This record gives sequence, structure tokens and C-alpha cells, in this order.
Amino acid sequence: MARKVFILNGPNLNALGMREPGVYGSKTLQDIERDCRTYAETLELGIDFRQTNHEGVLVDWLHEANESAVGAAINPAAYGHTSIALHDAIRAISIPVVELHLSNIHAREPFRHKTMTAPVAVGVICGFGPTSYTLALQALANHIKDQ
Ligand code: DQA
Repeated sequence: MARKVFILNGPNLNALGMREPGVYGSKTLQDIERDCRTYAETLELGIDFRQTNHEGVLVDWLHEANESAVGAAINPAAYGHTSIALHDAIRAISIPVVELHLSNIHAREPFRHKTMTAPVAVGVICGFGPTSYTLALQALANHIKDQ
């Protein structure tokens, strides 16, 4: 069976496609999931792709990923900027976690320039729209291979 990685999505990402398309593009989260599945096959990885609007659910899923996956990519969305719980969850688990954002958070409002999650992630990819997801998958796969 293919090794599995989790791709986790935080609040409001279920609204992609209609949510501020000038910032986030016109693809829906389902479109992005499809792209990730196709790309993951080339990396010989299986993916578990999920979205929630609830902080604690993301924490639970990170713990679950630690039990059943070889790594995780997360777009924590707004919780990335605020959540000590997500910081602690990533710290508490032993699998590598890559943080990603569709938009270039550093080119936006100052409150988006920092994330609580970046210091505990393996690395951060942002600013490439939906391609941020496949870049994060590639980076995660390389990191796992090198481990
Ligand atoms: C986001 C950037 C965050 O600042 C924002 O709160 C989001 C989406 C992105 O993918 O660009 O919801 O994570």
C-alpha cells in the first residue's frame, strides 16, 4: 500500500472558488484535491485530504496523522496566525509537517506576516496559488526520502 500523507485545510478554505478570487484564485478546494491526488500518484504517495473550520479538529487530525501517515501538509488558513494549539500540536508529533498558503502572506496585511506554525514546520510554501499545494507535496516527499 502507498505511504500516506495528510493534507489538512483550515477555516474558510471550503469557500475557495467564490471567496476573494482576486486573492485566492477561481479553483475550488475540490479542484485542488484532484490536482493533489494526481500529483501524489507520481510521488507514489496516498493522500488523505480534509478541511475543517474548527481549530480543535485540526489538532485532532494532526495527532491522527502522527499515527497513520508519514507526513502532513497543512494550510492552517487564519489559525496559522493565531493558534498556539496548532503550534503545540505540530511540536508534539514526530512526522514532518509542511505549512502552505495560497497567497503570499508576506505581501499582505501585517497581521498575516507571521504564523505560529512556521517555527515548528519543516518549511513554508506560500504565494503560488493552488500550485503551493503540489509544491508542498513535493517538498514533503523529498524531506521524507531524505530522513
Ligand atoms: C491563507 C492565508 C491566510 O492569511 C488566510 O487567513 C487564509 C488563507 C492562504 O492560503 O493564502 O484563510 O492561508
